[in-house]
Amino acid sequence: MPDSAGRRSWDSLESISSEVRVCTRCSLSETRINAVPGEGSPVASVMFIGEGPGSQEDQQGRPFVGRAGKLLDNLLSAVPIERRDVYITNIVKCRPPNNRDPQPVEVEACGPFLDAQIELINPRVIATLGRHSLVHFFPNAKISRDHGRIMRWRNRILLPLYHPAAALRSSRVMQATASDFERIPEALLAALSPKRTAGRVGESQSSYEPAVEGASGASPETDSGERQQSMF
Ligand code: URA
Repeated sequence: MPDSAGRRSWDSLESISSEVRVCTRCSLSETRINAVPGEGSPVASVMFIGEGPGSQEDQQGRPFVGRAGKLLDNLLSAVPIERRDVYITNIVKCRPPNNRDPQPVEVEACGPFLDAQIELINPRVIATLGRHSLVHFFPNAKISRDHGRIMRWRNRILLPLYHPAAALRSSRVMQATASDFERIPEALLAALSPKRTAGRVGESQSSYEPAVEGASGASPETDSGERQQSMF
């Protein structure tokens, strides 16, 4: 049963996705064609979090499948990272009408789904895509200042990236985004540093930190389950 804040525990990504698909927690459910829970590896080391589904995503029920999604695929291949090895989702799981910004009440209603996805996937690195996703984690952050900075959020690394749609609109942002994506391996290495687990897990652990420079020698972890977790 959900608690009064709508929080509950789910034991699998599939059960979250099933609930997202029939969710009526906010009015976005009235205008959506399909909810877009997210997709990718359940043992991903990197989780990309966008803002909310657009028109193509709404039609297909999958995240980042439109123009911005094609660019995301290209940026991933340049690292190189396979899309199937990461998890991709959004702050809100249903399309805001006319691609307007998600409202705080909608972000809050969807929050328990995102929290549970993060808990279950347990990514080392959260890569936020765009301003809305970044300020969900760091309310005072600024995407123009903080993109590409390796930060700590609770016991994870957070790497703020521009939204691919913003990169499509500006060659300056495109260049910055391409070089920020190149920092993903470094963010993964930073996540292996002891600070990852230092202290209490909680909002007070969130902090801006300089990048860990020059770390090397880490090897891919093996997941304790059947699947081998790839570097990404
Ligand atoms: N933009 C987003 O923020 N998310 C998507 O899934 C697609 C476009």
